[in-house]
Amino acid sequence: MRQAIRVVAKAGLRVLDWKTKQRVLEAAASLRRSGRRNGAGGYADYSVGSVDASPKHADPAKLIDRLFRYERALGEEIDFAGKTVLEIGAGPVLGWALVGIARGAACYHVLEPAFNPAVLDRYAAYFRTHRQWIGRVVGEVPPVDELLASGAIRVVRAPAARTGLPEGSVDLVLSNSVLEHVEHVDALVDELDRICGPDALQYHVVDFTDHQGGADPFAHVYGHDPEELRALYRRRGMPINLLRLPELTERLARRFEVEATVLLEDASHPSVRSPEDYWRERFTKEELGIEVAVLKLARRHAG
Ligand SMILES: C[S@@+](CC[C@H](N)C(=O)[O-])C[C@H]1O[C@@H](n2cnc3c(N)ncnc32)[C@H](O)[C@@H]1O
Repeated sequence: MRQAIRVVAKAGLRVLDWKTKQRVLEAAASLRRSGRRNGAGGYADYSVGSVDASPKHADPAKLIDRLFRYERALGEEIDFAGKTVLEIGAGPVLGWALVGIARGAACYHVLEPAFNPAVLDRYAAYFRTHRQWIGRVVGEVPPVDELLASGAIRVVRAPAARTGLPEGSVDLVLSNSVLEHVEHVDALVDELDRICGPDALQYHVVDFTDHQGGADPFAHVYGHDPEELRALYRRRGMPINLLRLPELTERLARRFEVEATVLLEDASHPSVRSPEDYWRERFTKEELGIEVAVLKLARRHAG
């Protein structure tokens, strides 16, 4: 029944213009939040129903492939061996924790402010398939409940700016499509600086698009005022900070050496060719055309 309602609602949304559609989605998000007992307000909705309705969480092969693809594009393998890892905004099904453990991570902290343990029980089949794939392409990995019980995987239900982890305790930080959702980037940078050990490396994949999945990935960014948009996304319960690559790099460079690798860019989209004044005055067309980039961060060493 719920599924049928979702299908009808989706069909209805398709006929609305963009602004009206955003208002309807905003009202729906606020209804969901008020009806949720343990909602992690302001972050993703990982109630079992919402996770079920999002096919992207159901395919472990895609998740593993994505990591390999990023590594190929970077030209290097991420070294997990013996490391204490922190993945921030890992999503509902433990992110890359199983790959990390199979590749030798000593301890993998899965930080997700919206984490819902009920999803793990519900996704037993997902984890069986996930372990099989990892067994074939990386190496054997124990069952999830054993990894959780032994403390090899630890769930941190908190925002990334308040991990609660000890000072200097982390060797490797990962995130996929999270930094663009963090509202207080400076607080996050301070926390990463606090928890990272002297040789820690970080890899953050950032999605700069409008997250709407249309043919022009910036159609709902460059035609609008950023403050208005930020407020809209915040009210919808999924903030997007709209920082462009140069701005984000500058914030992170306050404490870390930053190397940016652009994975996807296209300055030929109509929105990039004719942006509103705010965007045109601050960025080049090439900068506006950056869709996905990975930022590699290292500690700054004197000398
Ligand atoms: C687009 S999802 C990406 C999830 C997952 N990494 C993936 O690739 O499927 C963004 C995630 O970031 C989380 N998030 C948003 N703001 C956050 C913050 N300040 N600290 C930590 N996680 C945050 C959300 O709850 C959500 O799970």
